Amino acid sequence: MNITYFGHSCFGVEVNGKHLIFDPFISQNELAANIDVNTVKADYILVSHGHFDHVADLVSIAKRTNAKVICSWEIHTWLNNQGITNTHPMNVGGKWKFDFGDVKCVVAVHSNSLPDGTYGGNPMGFIVETNLGNFYYAGDTALTYDMKLIGDYRKVNFAFLPIGDNFTMGPDNAIIAAEFIKCDKIIGMHYDTFGFIKIEKEVAVKKFDNAGRELILFNIGEVKTIK
Ligand code: NI
Ligand code: MN
Repeated sequence: MNITYFGHSCFGVEVNGKHLIFDPFISQNELAANIDVNTVKADYILVSHGHFDHVADLVSIAKRTNAKVICSWEIHTWLNNQGITNTHPMNVGGKWKFDFGDVKCVVAVHSNSLPDGTYGGNPMGFIVETNLGNFYYAGDTALTYDMKLIGDYRKVNFAFLPIGDNFTMGPDNAIIAAEFIKCDKIIGMHYDTFGFIKIEKEVAVKKFDNAGRELILFNIGEVKTIK
């Protein structure tokens, strides 16, 4: 699958000709100044939770592209109230068939409110199962034993895990998460954007390497093909 990094936790994944965008936060990310948010293609936008660093560009991209937004019931209601009605509400434990593949919502251990203070429901991670392979997008989360369930019931070809620490797991816990989900190809996210989550990237890559796993870090704007 072709994966584009738009900075922070925002990725574009191309699956079966459809463009999936995760957690759009671009125009307010100083590090992503090279990305023009108005050129981002989207057929679906998957939103793990409502914190500003995951939804800052959600409304504008949804309006421009009319992409379907996959999110919690509470975020779906919040969007509907703003006139964005192409939404698909889900909750933890649920699975739905879309034209690009199946999406299953899984537990994320975090908090969830929208920028205006509205309650956002449960924060979530997503497992995307496709005919090209399966991947896990963890959202913002702590390491949790529930991750074992993800790897026990399917092959995870690659996974997006937060590694910035402070608000989420750091690299050491992300290595344990990789073991839990039985996945050796980890794409790092949620690091370096703000002072609280600045990490030593080379040290993190080395730690993964020592644990027999690969930590893949993108430059912002970079596209990689990952299987
Ligand atoms: Ni968050
Ligand atoms: Mn966050």
